[in-house]
Amino acid sequence: MASFTITPLTDHTGAEVVGIDFTQPVDSETKSTLNDAWAKYHVLVMRDQNFTPVEYKRAATVFGELQPHDKKEHHVPGHPDLYYVSNNEFKNGKRIIPGETFHTDHSNHPAPPKATMLYTVSLPSYGGDTQYVDMHAAYDDLDEAMKQRIAPLRARHVYQSKYSPRQLTGLNEDSARAMPPPGLHPLVRVHPENGRKALYLNPVRMESIDGMGDNEALALIGELMDHATQTKYEYRHQWRQGDWVIWDNRSVMHQANADYDMNERRYLFRLMLKGEVPIPVP
Ligand code: SIN
Repeated sequence: MASFTITPLTDHTGAEVVGIDFTQPVDSETKSTLNDAWAKYHVLVMRDQNFTPVEYKRAATVFGELQPHDKKEHHVPGHPDLYYVSNNEFKNGKRIIPGETFHTDHSNHPAPPKATMLYTVSLPSYGGDTQYVDMHAAYDDLDEAMKQRIAPLRARHVYQSKYSPRQLTGLNEDSARAMPPPGLHPLVRVHPENGRKALYLNPVRMESIDGMGDNEALALIGELMDHATQTKYEYRHQWRQGDWVIWDNRSVMHQANADYDMNERRYLFRLMLKGEVPIPVP
């Protein structure tokens, strides 16, 4: 097994992995140690990587199988299965910063991706952090009455909810055609690897809750979001060149920050990994 360290970054979320060059093959023992750490810490920060697109795609499979993105047009030239986030995106003349409010990725899918990962290509000289909040800890801290209330509830997640707090970039015809039917997901899901319950929320995509009027549903989602996005549940990632960060969409929500000079380029390679149909509480 390679010699490397895994160091927690908070007492709940995030751990830093130092000492592995992921352009080289990863043995099965290391793979299993990394996957265990990922299930425990939800966000892994692999430092000092130097990937070509092909090496990055290969490294991603240490954690699972690649899942295509909804926006097929958003790919790195020459690599239809490698996506990116960039601050150089516009809709109706207005700049769009992808991921600028708390969310979990592609929850409009019946089986949403278990993971998303970013690798730094170009960073602004300051700012542009990504914030993560621990949805297991947020769930654990709810009072018993709220836990009972939300246990049986299921929400409908669409590509963009009519109540979304932000605009997504549009889809081209091919991407729209390939869109799966909306996901109907529990508000509380059980993580298949660590066995813990987590809140599963995404105001960008959640359009309704089964058996509830929209006003009541929005109030409930708002209350749960206020609770889950408290700083005590947060790990805030300050990017360094060479960082490769993978997060578990079943355990955390995340958001990007647009607090830097937009004349500077923020551009990261982005991949997702296939997930499963969310498991409700028994
Ligand atoms: C995302 O929401 O996937 C992007 C996060 C970021 O750019 O920091």
